[in-house]
Amino acid sequence: MCQSPLHDFLHGLPKCEHHVHLEGCLTPELIFELAQKNAITLPSDPAYTSPKTLTQRYGNFTSLDDFLSFYFTGMTVLHSESDFALLAWTYFQRAHADGVHHAEVFFDPQVHRDRGVAYETIVAGFVAGCKRAEREFGLTTRLILCFVRHLPVESAAQVFEHALANSHFHPETDMLHGVGWSSTEVGPPKDMFRELYATAKTAGIRLTAHAGEEGDPSYIATALELGAQRIDHGIRLVEDVELMQRVVQDGVLLTVCPISNVQLKCVTSVAEVPIRRFLDAGVKFSINSDDPAYFGGYILDNYCAVQEAFALSVDEWRHIAETSVRESWVDEVRKEELLRRIDDHVSKHLEVVLV
Ligand code: ADE
Ligand code: ZN
Repeated sequence: MCQSPLHDFLHGLPKCEHHVHLEGCLTPELIFELAQKNAITLPSDPAYTSPKTLTQRYGNFTSLDDFLSFYFTGMTVLHSESDFALLAWTYFQRAHADGVHHAEVFFDPQVHRDRGVAYETIVAGFVAGCKRAEREFGLTTRLILCFVRHLPVESAAQVFEHALANSHFHPETDMLHGVGWSSTEVGPPKDMFRELYATAKTAGIRLTAHAGEEGDPSYIATALELGAQRIDHGIRLVEDVELMQRVVQDGVLLTVCPISNVQLKCVTSVAEVPIRRFLDAGVKFSINSDDPAYFGGYILDNYCAVQEAFALSVDEWRHIAETSVRESWVDEVRKEELLRRIDDHVSKHLEVVLV
């Protein structure tokens, strides 16, 4: 909990989360529990002695790639459909408690397929978790299939073709709602998914991409050139003023993850995340958790961290919350409903303050 007088206001503010990896919601406790259930031997690295030692190691990530080695090891404990469903459900319960009304969540099917888990098992489990959140909390959800940059393009092409062949992106199946890319940023060719993104764009599939997290603004420019409608992270956009003007003009949303940026040493503190610069320049952004089980902060913690660093006004928070709704990949009726809830929440807060 933060020390800000706006803490309760921030808690109740209706939120949309646009950037969270379901595999990044696998807590150390759940890793140990599922490893035992599925008879998986965890690495001999002393970090894996207990959930406590693992949590301690998570506090010392040196870079994106250092984190990714733990992230990809952690997800090896996921095997059955019920494991995937439980993971998603665990996240949605926490998100609901933090005031999330709409969540767009990533998953990495290539990595699970590579270790022998069927694509259908992964998707069926995650879809079940999403449906339960919709049923029990009225939380709307969107699943985004993420290509990973550390594996060959061919492996991404295989899962994509499989998803297309099974109509998983078709509105009637209501299973997958977009494609993203993630994993290691600096190293692989910037445009490695050029053909796949062109195919997805032609098929009318929504596109996003992790860019400008560790990589310089040229990674953002390439993602936009390939058809990304959103940029995940994008904090290094401020280093290219012309590109930033284009992003403002085109109304591209950045899905910013402040605590992640600190934990992965992209910045030294939340105050260094360009929140104020983005607000002043008119860059659209939402605030998100990325991999909350690894970074020690869910979405509300991220809102609070931003408030402690920038002391934003109620009006600025209203603007951030409304932008998050307007830029969500959801229908207009749902957007109107969420905008009304934000309006009610802000009005109630102001009534109390003004009394
Ligand atoms: N996969 C999970 N978290 C990620 C991050 N912060 N950046 C790139 N890929 C990721
Ligand atoms: Zn991410």
